Amino acid sequence: KQQNVIAPSILSADFARLGDDTAKALMAGADWVHFDVMDNHYVPNLTMGPMVLKALRDYGITAPIDVHLMVKPVDRIVPDFAKAGASLISFHPEASEHVDRTIGLIKESGCQAGLVFNPATPLNWLDHVLDKLDLVLIMSVNPGFGGQKFIPGALDKLREVRRRIDDSGRAIRLEVDGGVTADNIGEIAAAGADTFVAGSAIFNAPDYRAVIEAMRRTLAE
Ligand code: DX5
Ligand code: ZN
Repeated sequence: KQQNVIAPSILSADFARLGDDTAKALMAGADWVHFDVMDNHYVPNLTMGPMVLKALRDYGITAPIDVHLMVKPVDRIVPDFAKAGASLISFHPEASEHVDRTIGLIKESGCQAGLVFNPATPLNWLDHVLDKLDLVLIMSVNPGFGGQKFIPGALDKLREVRRRIDDSGRAIRLEVDGGVTADNIGEIAAAGADTFVAGSAIFNAPDYRAVIEAMRRTLAE
């Protein structure tokens, strides 16, 4: 298992002060920036695109930016996110016509590649591509909105993917996204996750540092 990463989802940040609020989360001890891209087609919400990511880079955000694509089609927008400064790009297999091709495209663009599993998406999408991935993302809510409740069934899925990653012998990250809080991060880590997205738990709190430190304390136990 790799070092734990905390990735605040800026979906819950103050969009009118996005640069400042993102920097604030990083200064409070976050590792990555989780960047949720929604298209009002694959998911019922509309957020931000490559121009916003580029603006964050231009503003001076240097931390890894973890792009979570909830869009369909996928391939057309991948090069734009790479050019804008994405570090890692994850996508949902149901949204791509050719999953293996999309993974290749992300890597050729110079980014790391991740595959995302909705609560009802079976893990057999991993069967022939796990070795090509840098990250597997298990959704613990249905994608589209921040502030939803963690779906406990995600824990079994995390345990199963942890087994598959360990069997592969490769340094593939296991990320969880949706309803993660300082209260449940312990059992989520115990199920095998090493990369934790948290939106509302961080950005809706008065003190980002207090939340991130509480998460790290639990992870260190
Ligand atoms: C949901 C997004 C998540 C979301 C998490 O579609 O992918 O990243 O912002 O928000 P919280 O942590 O509030 O569940
Ligand atoms: Zn996300």
